[in-house]
Amino acid sequence: MYNNDVLKGIRINPVQKVQGEIQVPGDKSISHRAALFGGMAKGETHITNFLPGQDCLSTLECLQRLGVEWERRDTEVWIRGEGFEQWQEPQDILDVGNSGTTMRLFLGVLAGCPFSVTLTGDSSIRSRPMGRVTLPLQEMGARILGRQAGKYAPLTIQGDSLQGIDFHSPVASAQVKSAILLAGLKARGETTVTEPFLSRDHTERMLRGFGVPVISEANTAKIEGGAKLSSQEVSVPGDISSAAFFLVLGSLASKGELLIRNVGMNTTRTGILDALWQMGADIQVENEKEECGEPRANLRVRPAQLHGIDIGGEMIPRLIDEVPILAVAASMAKGVTTIRDAAELRVKETDRIQTVVQGLRSLGAEIQELSDGMQITGISQLRGGYASSHGDHRLAMAWAVAGLLSKEGVSLTGIEAAAVSFPDFLSLIDRITN
Ligand code: S3P
Repeated sequence: MYNNDVLKGIRINPVQKVQGEIQVPGDKSISHRAALFGGMAKGETHITNFLPGQDCLSTLECLQRLGVEWERRDTEVWIRGEGFEQWQEPQDILDVGNSGTTMRLFLGVLAGCPFSVTLTGDSSIRSRPMGRVTLPLQEMGARILGRQAGKYAPLTIQGDSLQGIDFHSPVASAQVKSAILLAGLKARGETTVTEPFLSRDHTERMLRGFGVPVISEANTAKIEGGAKLSSQEVSVPGDISSAAFFLVLGSLASKGELLIRNVGMNTTRTGILDALWQMGADIQVENEKEECGEPRANLRVRPAQLHGIDIGGEMIPRLIDEVPILAVAASMAKGVTTIRDAAELRVKETDRIQTVVQGLRSLGAEIQELSDGMQITGISQLRGGYASSHGDHRLAMAWAVAGLLSKEGVSLTGIEAAAVSFPDFLSLIDRITN
């Protein structure tokens, strides 16, 4: 199915059939939170099905620099937390690599820790907006210095005593919400965060699991300062954002059937399923259950004729990371798909409106850029050609799937970016296409 050449990238050849049973790696958002909360809690936290992707390893490394001891064997992690009151000033900067979640969640916790820390990351992280977190944290009393008045990394934070806040976020962002709630743990009084639409609520659910009362009502989450975390057993469900590549591949392949086991089914994340169902996909949900406050299920996908749909509003935060692969699906669906209200895509690992539109167009798609999304007119099959991940993990995997479904295949550079969230992506593709 593919040939790997380090210099020229890889060649993805078209396939007709995909068949098999797979398990995608642990959820990235939940793995970050399990490690971070384990490091903040008192006692031993044991995590199973942890995602050993580069982003979550960055979170573990940052914990280590703050004096938290842990051990990892593949996807199993033990964290020996002593409470975040025991965190120590690191002797060097914290490098979050490519991980926005690591940067923003740590800023929230460190805002109330009585020492100074400098956080930075790769060139993508250094160009992503941090003011959305640093401004409300400064309002709570945190002292933060950084490029452009503390809006871009590298950022230096000097923890201080904090005051609770009633924050109305202009964007639906779980990273912003989580950072403010985590700072609220150390603040005097109550902290509430209200967002325009509900973003993923893993922080609220998992904090409750760690013994912290968080009250959620519609798009508002509330926390009382002073609560302590107690260690937990966390079993991480498979990442629906990683499963999405196989949902689209299994829907648009000519033949075969895929069973994807143990996929996270939190409704703040299942927008991709709702979108694919609206497009006519044949995806069945089996063996639904809930563990550690997070629902999960097996997903069975078979080929189907997809058609275009309109997506916007509250649906967008529920599928924001899946837009690149959804655009691949739309490019081969019957009719027009319009994605709006998704300007947030411009501040992800790349400007995903621009990179998705340019990338798909060069593979033969009929696609137009909109200021807050894109419009795609489906054709029967993508032609194929050359594609680059631009260092963005979700583009790398979306272009690989596009190649498998195309007429002529895709020469893809930068597939190694997939390791950020899905280190075994290519071997799983190999298993179901051979
Ligand atoms: C994440 C939240 C989302 C998402 C990111 C992971 C999280 O980002 O795109 O991949 O784990 O909280 P925003 O908070 O910027 O919307």
